[in-house]
Amino acid sequence: MFALTGIGHLVTNDETVGQGKLGVLHDAALVSDDAGNILWVGKQSELASHFDGKPTDAGGRAVIPGFVDSHTHLVFAGDRALEFESRMQGKPYAAGGIKTTMAATRAASDEVLAANVARLASEALVSGTTTLEVKSGYGLSVRDEARSLVAAKTATSETTFLGAHVVPPETNADDYVSLVQGEMLDACKGNAKWIDVFCDRGAFDVDQARAILQTGAAAGLGMRLHANQLQQGGGVQLGVELGVASCDHCTHLSQLDIDALSGASKTTVATLLPTAELCTRSPFPDARKLIDAGVTVALASDCNPGSSYTSSMPLVIALAVINMGMTCDEALWSATAAGAQALRRNDVGNLRVGSRADIVVLDATSHIHLAYRPGVQQVRAVIRGGKTVVGTL
Ligand code: NIG
Ligand code: FE
Repeated sequence: MFALTGIGHLVTNDETVGQGKLGVLHDAALVSDDAGNILWVGKQSELASHFDGKPTDAGGRAVIPGFVDSHTHLVFAGDRALEFESRMQGKPYAAGGIKTTMAATRAASDEVLAANVARLASEALVSGTTTLEVKSGYGLSVRDEARSLVAAKTATSETTFLGAHVVPPETNADDYVSLVQGEMLDACKGNAKWIDVFCDRGAFDVDQARAILQTGAAAGLGMRLHANQLQQGGGVQLGVELGVASCDHCTHLSQLDIDALSGASKTTVATLLPTAELCTRSPFPDARKLIDAGVTVALASDCNPGSSYTSSMPLVIALAVINMGMTCDEALWSATAAGAQALRRNDVGNLRVGSRADIVVLDATSHIHLAYRPGVQQVRAVIRGGKTVVGTL
């Protein structure tokens, strides 16, 4: 058993135990069992009747659920620092850069790919991410997509087959769409939980995306979609039509798109990826407008070597608050509970009885400091499944 005590400010995301949507408790404690699940959460004064060992003391700090980063592309080799540099000198971002990473990924060994995933997953963990979704999508051949998913699986069970990232240079769109739905899906589905398509300018159109997602779903994979990152198009409408778990990016939305997401708020989450906007100098999506319209909004990092080479969920939260109109409470909820919803999970992203004891202890008095002190490392310790895996208390 594990117990954490001395919690000055505890975010549970459980409205039934604390204040507001974040379910905030002060002077709190929690207990987890040997399987790493939460047994009890409450006022510290009541701990003695739930735990009789030696608790770990949080020293009055703020404690939050571990971040759920529901959108990353961690399987790749090489980097695109020169592309970033020229973008900062005015060159626009385009989907075509994916092919540069494809070449480096194809040339890399399985060991190098797995080591890169491990390095980035551990970087994410240090900044408080305890649940991570990881996509393939830089192999773009049957062999390289299949081994990309093997590498992804070494870091997480939330793996996504993104063979439909772009059409690789050696083939044409029609043949490639058939390959993705046939031989490639067969080679990848055993190591994938989800299927995703980049439905945008320079990648796949709505009809291609529909066909690929439906074939993936028929093979037992859950659906998610890159939609409306580079321009308004039919991506979000398609995602809602198919009932995907999440439409991701949502940078360029029409009122019809917002209405569709609002009507589907129980089924389909809109996952915003503000570090992609930051690093491509694109307009930030208007999260305020989405939330006010009743859309369920999640936040994720989109960590990838092209558009968003960061795994930092605290940075994502700071941008969402400072640039996208979210409150500090909304941004934390979106980076935890809504991220879990985007993965159709309810055992992570909250600190309720029965959920995983995935916990972040902040060197701060409340979660407000995540946005208030952008760029500052405030994660004092990370506890995963009731075990301290980063830092000391
Ligand atoms: O989510 N949008 C598509 N894929 C990635 C970018 C990939 C790249 O540029 O390498 C994204 O931003
Ligand atoms: Fe992405």
